Amino acid sequence: MADARWIEVDSYLQAALVPADPVLEQAIADSRRAGLPPIEVTALQGKFLSVLARLLQARRILEIGTLGGYSTIWMARSLPRDGQLVSLELDPDHAVVAAANLRRAGLADRVDIRVGPATHSLRQLADGGGGPFDLVFIDADKPGTEGYLDQALALCRAGSAIVVDNVVRHGALVDHQPDADAEGMQRAVSWLGRQPRVEATVLQTVGAKGHDGFALGMVL
Ligand code: SAH
Ligand code: DHB
Ligand code: MG
Repeated sequence: MADARWIEVDSYLQAALVPADPVLEQAIADSRRAGLPPIEVTALQGKFLSVLARLLQARRILEIGTLGGYSTIWMARSLPRDGQLVSLELDPDHAVVAAANLRRAGLADRVDIRVGPATHSLRQLADGGGGPFDLVFIDADKPGTEGYLDQALALCRAGSAIVVDNVVRHGALVDHQPDADAEGMQRAVSWLGRQPRVEATVLQTVGAKGHDGFALGMVL
């Protein structure tokens, strides 16, 4: 699904902008060895999240969808020493791989992986006064995205940023008979458009993972 030219440009940019990083490379290798699906953000996208976290001077980050902790490492590295990242993951096998990758990255003290359905973990965070988060990255099951936006917003403050991955889905977003994932993203985009507390846009992307896009919202 990815044009050879997009992959070539991603490789060029990665070579220029992302230094070789054994910890991140081992995180990917161990995720593959454990049989996790190869659906992490790209290195350039990971760096985008890390730059955003720094711009926000984020001290608390919420991630929904950990997988092997690749995007988690990128974002957690931007935290100050006493910062915290809470990452929500449904699959206990994924969480085990992520925990090992985060330990190797020296980030175990700053990252709290919570296993279970994100809806449940988000409710627990709200009940326990878990907010506010400075940055939220939503990247779990796509049909759940609208609900995660709604629950995450309650854990944000004015000035928080919310990023959603995989909004465009190779253009499936505009299909007349969208699959469940694309339909989930249609609902998410519609939510972003009508939610008065969030100012949002979507940037289409191409690259090693094909044609997709990030939503970026700012909480008012
Ligand atoms: N953010 C990761 C990729 C996440 S892939 C990265 O870029 O490195 C999506 C993850 O969401 C998978 O690990 C999947 O198990 C998890 N997931 C799926 N449904 C979920 C749910 N209901 N609650 C929490 N996590 C879920
Ligand atoms: C896919 C990619 C993702 O980034 C994700 O979060 C889920 C699925 C995919 O390419 O199928
Ligand atoms: Mg994703």
